[in-house]
Amino acid sequence: MYIQKYAVTRRSVRRYKKEDIPLNDLMYILDVARYAPSGGNRQPWRFLLVSSPEKKKEIREICEEIERKFYNRAPREFVEWAASRNITWRKPHLTEAPVLILVFGRRGTPYWIESVWLMIGYLLLAAEEKGYATLTYTPSDTRWANSMFNVPEEYRLQTIIPIGKPDEAPSDPGRLPLKEIVFVEEWGNKLIQ
Ligand SMILES: Cc1cc2nc3c(=O)[nH]c(=O)nc-3n(C[C@H](O)[C@H](O)[C@H](O)COP(=O)(O)O)c2cc1C
Repeated sequence: MYIQKYAVTRRSVRRYKKEDIPLNDLMYILDVARYAPSGGNRQPWRFLLVSSPEKKKEIREICEEIERKFYNRAPREFVEWAASRNITWRKPHLTEAPVLILVFGRRGTPYWIESVWLMIGYLLLAAEEKGYATLTYTPSDTRWANSMFNVPEEYRLQTIIPIGKPDEAPSDPGRLPLKEIVFVEEWGNKLIQ
């Protein structure tokens, strides 16, 4: 009942209030996330919390440069869909949110990417439960993060999650109904007609 409520109400939020987030809440959210299952229980995730305005500004500048290039060569269809959701090369969430959670995955461990992203799902729901908005922001180039933060070579940035109080109320982009995505015994054989 509760998990369903948080799964349904969570939205990707791209504008944030500059209100601080208590460390206890942040710790609660990361503590939930670390219980996620992972390939071989290798727990290939590490979190880097960034709240310094200077560092956030630096991250935003790098990411917006990457995004400008990405949007110049992105398919028109994508750019139009993004614009309809107010998504452009501008990334104000990177400086507005009080904290950025940089999520790194350790390359080479079994199913490391799948494990990290499964954990991210836990993290998003825990944040929603605590009343915080998030976004799984995925810049197309991530190598800069290793040099900026002295991150060992085997770790790769998977996403930057701004977390904080929302300063927008995005509309629900909707989901496919169960009757379209669940089959029984044979592909195409719908559970719900
Ligand atoms: C793996 C992954 C990567 C994503 N990357 C971005 C991104 O780089 N920028 C962005 O604005 N949203 C990103 N999103 C958010 C999706 O656009 C969003 O989840 C989707 O449109 C559904 O909207 P909702 O989260 O509000 O339900 C990403 C989501 C996932 C799961």
